[in-house]
Amino acid sequence: MNIAVLVSGSGTNLQAIIDAVKSGYIKADIALILSDNKKAYALERAKKAGIEALFLDPGSFGSKIDFDKEIVKNLKKRAVELVVLAGYMRLLTPYFIKEYKDRIMNIHPALLPSFKGLDGVKDAFAYGVKVTGPTAHFITEKVDSGPIITQAPVEVEDGDTEDSLREKVHKEEHKIYPKAIKDFVEGKLEIKGRKVVHR
Ligand code: GRF
Repeated sequence: MNIAVLVSGSGTNLQAIIDAVKSGYIKADIALILSDNKKAYALERAKKAGIEALFLDPGSFGSKIDFDKEIVKNLKKRAVELVVLAGYMRLLTPYFIKEYKDRIMNIHPALLPSFKGLDGVKDAFAYGVKVTGPTAHFITEKVDSGPIITQAPVEVEDGDTEDSLREKVHKEEHKIYPKAIKDFVEGKLEIKGRKVVHR
């Protein structure tokens, strides 16, 4: 199966996915790494791994849908069957979501449905929760609300800072996200309404 990873930033999750593909844990090929940010370190990671990477500049398209059409064109050209969002900081248009219905996943750094939005670690830490952690989920039109594939609990200890918590959440992301992708690739995930059943 061909997969694509969409990124905007440092790409530590991308790295975990690259490593999992290289070791054979995920039995798929990364056909494309696509970034909407020219300076994303994730693009360096792609280069180092010898994987095709593409930067598309949102500013050079007339509308959000034109931008997404170009992305979808690139995905289809490479016969991509699963789209993996890994720190991709842009909302997908309904067009994109329909084209890849039930085949787009995301990793969010909080236990959804708590702390949706741009910075789930910051918000959970500021709120004073005792347990937080990442969520891997499918994408639907409602932001951060698609069926949940898996979650991992992370304890917030008294000595934690926002940064130390972020590091702990990231560590768990790097375990659960490759596993979610592996399970999808092996046909083990079935969406039943709001639920994802592991076969
Ligand atoms: C992760 O914390 C993820 O949960 C969120 O964006 C961050 C991306 O980090 N969606 P990285 O670029 O994979 O290091």
